[in-house]
Amino acid sequence: MKNRLARCTIFLIIGAGIGLGINHYKKQKELDSGVIPLSADDQATATILKAPVTIEEEEATDENNNPAGLGGAFSLTDQNGKAVTEKDYSSSYKLVFFGFTFCPAVCPTELQKVTLVMNELGKASSKIQPIFITVDPERDTPEQIKGYIKQFHPKLVGLTGNAEQIKSVTDAYRVYATKVENEHMEGYMMDHSAYLYLMSPDDKLIAVYPSKDKVTDIVEDIKKRNL
Ligand code: NI
Repeated sequence: MKNRLARCTIFLIIGAGIGLGINHYKKQKELDSGVIPLSADDQATATILKAPVTIEEEEATDENNNPAGLGGAFSLTDQNGKAVTEKDYSSSYKLVFFGFTFCPAVCPTELQKVTLVMNELGKASSKIQPIFITVDPERDTPEQIKGYIKQFHPKLVGLTGNAEQIKSVTDAYRVYATKVENEHMEGYMMDHSAYLYLMSPDDKLIAVYPSKDKVTDIVEDIKKRNL
């Protein structure tokens, strides 16, 4: 009996030793190969860092190399307080941009770009409805948006909604948007992706223009498509 117990203990010690040895060998191999496994925390950070560029990394793409299935139905409120859905704009192609009216730089620049694109397209612009959708429904009321969009193209509409409606439309367009606050800041900022989407009348994605695209690039691309 005593003997058996001793033998078991020895086996256990040998077993643990082998286990540790294997584990150490695995760790060493990972280090040698330069592949260091991420901790759960690191993985979460990596996911957050990756979020703004998901469009470029999307695997399923259509013939234009655009992410498949992007966009779709939405239910929002326009700058006049009227409830609208994607069907209200089904007679037009759409240039859709997501942002917020308190944005100090990117949004005004992009909306100015939309205005210039519309102007330079001339007659072809009659087939396009430019749409601004807020990522900051907390502050961007219909009245706030109405005042803001006056600075840009007269055809531009501005849409807002409740938090749930905005989440649903930003998810559908794979828009990254997150609130940024710190003690030096009055109020808060929205960090957000800034792509311009060209959508068909039936809400299929035709093209995505990143913010580095110039007015002439976008005009040329739209003209080439003979909408
Ligand atoms: Ni912005």
